Amino acid sequence: MDTSAFVKLSYLVAAALFILGLKNMAHPRTAVRGNMLGAAGMFLAVIVTLMTLEQFGFIAVAALVGAVIGLVLAQRIPMTEMPQLVALCNGFGGIASTLVAGAEFLRMEAETPDVLIATAVSAVIGTVTFWGSFVAFGKLQGLKAFSKNWAFPGQQAINALLLLTLIVLTAWMVSQQTVAALIAIVIVASILGFLLVTPIGGADMPVVIALLNSYSGLAAAATGFVIDNNVLIIAGSLVGASGVILTQIMCKAMNRSLTNVLFGGIDASSVAGDADEIYATVRSTSPDDVAMILENAQRVVIVPGYGMAVAQAQHAVREMADLLGKNGTDVVYAIHPVAGRMPGHMNVLLAEADVPYDKLKEMDEINPTMVTADVAIVIGANDVVNPVARTDPKSPIAGMPIIDVDKARTVIVIKRSLSPGFAGIPNPLFAAENSLMLFGDGKQALLEIVAALKEA
Ligand code: TAP
Repeated sequence: MDTSAFVKLSYLVAAALFILGLKNMAHPRTAVRGNMLGAAGMFLAVIVTLMTLEQFGFIAVAALVGAVIGLVLAQRIPMTEMPQLVALCNGFGGIASTLVAGAEFLRMEAETPDVLIATAVSAVIGTVTFWGSFVAFGKLQGLKAFSKNWAFPGQQAINALLLLTLIVLTAWMVSQQTVAALIAIVIVASILGFLLVTPIGGADMPVVIALLNSYSGLAAAATGFVIDNNVLIIAGSLVGASGVILTQIMCKAMNRSLTNVLFGGIDASSVAGDADEIYATVRSTSPDDVAMILENAQRVVIVPGYGMAVAQAQHAVREMADLLGKNGTDVVYAIHPVAGRMPGHMNVLLAEADVPYDKLKEMDEINPTMVTADVAIVIGANDVVNPVARTDPKSPIAGMPIIDVDKARTVIVIKRSLSPGFAGIPNPLFAAENSLMLFGDGKQALLEIVAALKEA
């Protein structure tokens, strides 16, 4: 077999591994295998591509340095900061596409328009992805500069103008093949990437993260055309397409259209609401009292949120559920699609604690049955159980479907204080007639409930 046939065959195998990997990732039970298959495909693609180069010493050193940084980051990053890392990785993917396409552009002699257009597309999408992901990282990290509302009047018009400028610059680059045009594209795309994501906030971040993920794939696919590499085109298209599907799922979960998320911004006038007034009737409880309520419950629904991830309370949750199960109580988990800070966040944590998959119920399945729940235990969730989404059309989470915990007979909310969640708005659920607050760290509170259940 000659080298070119071997390379093509290897790329085909790598592409098949990517697709199999994605298929396996569709279910928690096979997700780890899916991840391994995808990684194996990428490893094969990288090795075979290196073999096609005349000399790859420089790339090998860079790859080694990158691998060491990646390994250290993956080991050190706490689970709660994983979404930020994912945002950064999207951004690095975007800038890598821009750099590779740019480097190829510098080497090009007279190129055909299709390759030049692909170079410009890669530079635009790659750079927008980089800056957009950078802002998303800042918002997820809770950096003050990024968390405030950056929207200003006429911002959408400016974005449209920037887009138009990029089209003109692309035409200039294709007709003149000049580096100045490429540099101008990168500068304008940087401003656009920044402005596109800064006004988005509240509960809409999941959509943006999925979209940026898709962009990073599209930029890679465009770069694949520039350097004529089939496996990069395939891998980029797969990331682009799966990102679009995820974006659609997130939009559906939030009951928002993509245009509304991208161009709606945050209405600052509606964000607040007087927390003191709303929380005037909050009642708190103790672990012993919660244990007593749970002992008498026939059906308990556990609703985990971001706070469960922060507290790393998943094992304690499982222990409590096991004890209740032994007592004859029917215990299920209600999973909101945007609970936590990344898609599937709660599923990953609960799988880590070996919670059986059949106990995890999606929002659409659990909501009609909430009225039959004796107790709903909310562990570190806030926005995803905030009834304001149903009642206040001006709220930043208006229209977002929530887990209807307020319909349960008793609601127990475990969190450290009355602080708001990611969307930054008060939650009247905490002061509802059927609600009791158990203030404290999620894991600690659950361990105390477990101890009280064992004593009883
Ligand atoms: P949030 O609304 O963010 O609320 C989390 C709550 O956890 C906070 O109110 C906090 O209250 C509590 N908490 C923090 N540390 C805790 C600890 N150690 N023990 C107990 N409680 C703790 O979470 P959610 O309900 O899961 O909603 C997710 C939000 O994030 C949505 O707005 C969603 O749009 C957004 N978002 C989601 C994603 C994805 S893809 N899932 C990505 C980006 C943004 P205290 O400080 O009082 O404890």
